[in-house]
Amino acid sequence: MNVRVKGRRRHYRTVSFSARTNEVILIEQRKLPHTFELTRTKNFKQTARAITNMTVRGAGAIGATAAYGLAQGARAFTGKTEAAFARHIQRVYETLAAARPTAVDLVNALNEVRAAMAAGKTISQKQKLALRAAEKFANDDVAHCEAIGTHGAKLIKNGTRVLTHCNAGWLAFVDIGSATAPMYAAQAQGKNFHVYCDETRPRSQGAALTAWELAQQGVPHQVIADNAAGHLMARGEIDLVITGSDRTLGRTGEVANKIGTYTKAVLAARHNIPFYVAIPLSTLDWNLKSGKEIPIEERDEAEVQTAWGTDTRGTFRQVQIANPTSPARNPAFDVTPAELITGIITPKGIFKPKELWRERKRLGVV
Ligand code: MRU
Repeated sequence: MNVRVKGRRRHYRTVSFSARTNEVILIEQRKLPHTFELTRTKNFKQTARAITNMTVRGAGAIGATAAYGLAQGARAFTGKTEAAFARHIQRVYETLAAARPTAVDLVNALNEVRAAMAAGKTISQKQKLALRAAEKFANDDVAHCEAIGTHGAKLIKNGTRVLTHCNAGWLAFVDIGSATAPMYAAQAQGKNFHVYCDETRPRSQGAALTAWELAQQGVPHQVIADNAAGHLMARGEIDLVITGSDRTLGRTGEVANKIGTYTKAVLAARHNIPFYVAIPLSTLDWNLKSGKEIPIEERDEAEVQTAWGTDTRGTFRQVQIANPTSPARNPAFDVTPAELITGIITPKGIFKPKELWRERKRLGVV
């Protein structure tokens, strides 16, 4: 996306790679919206850490970061034997795969890069193929989001009031975003609409990231407290919900997404409001047979007990909100059942959740 940084409007991808220095280049998302900063990881361990500590976050973005991280690890190998290279690649793969558990894009990206490397006959060929495959994953992510915009824009009419949860925007992908793609496409078509961004506690990705993105793109929007959506729906002030997903089960149509998504889906069903989920193909999990099998990340209780922000002097601080002696529970994702979802917006079109399995060839299963 084009964003204005220090008075200059420039195009940035959220994730890119310097082949010259063998570094992954990331937007430091933990400092947004207060500071726009790029950061570089110098080796695969730093890349994995950047995923774990949420320097970079969002399903597609961590997929691309992991893909580049595997290429980075492969290219850093200086040993001589094929066997040592294979052991090294296994270690790089496992380190990156363990960085975060819920978004399947991460493992799908690693598998794509590893499969591409298998065609190489020498270590040097495998290293080249790894980077080519990582670049392909990143470019496909952009193309998928573009296509999601083409299919999803028709859901937004003049005057539509859209609710979105968390950040499934440009920052959560390499460019454009999934849930935001229909919004940006509708904006390019000249439609006037309004977006409500759920604040999305505990890390406030809606208030901090989606709102910043929409402001940068000039899309009219308001941040609402997580608890406000039901009230607005009951008053007829929300017409459409679009969220992203971290893992969508191809076999059942169940959708894992940021904690609070399920609550919004229940509310939307109660008020007959269409509820859509926008995903690139890398978010599809064709293996798991039930949403109960999806690994749900449990994060540090401090995220619930505290909040981050800048004070009136502009200093970035973390402040205690909860009673200091009370423990907290922090599941980061939930699973929405297929029957609460009106449609899944994919790069290949919009499908009912239960149609995904039947359409699996069109959706990339070989
Ligand atoms: O924990 P995060 O911020 O990495 O969570 C991911 C998300 O931003 C959301 O769940 C999003 O809607 C899906 S990722 C495109």
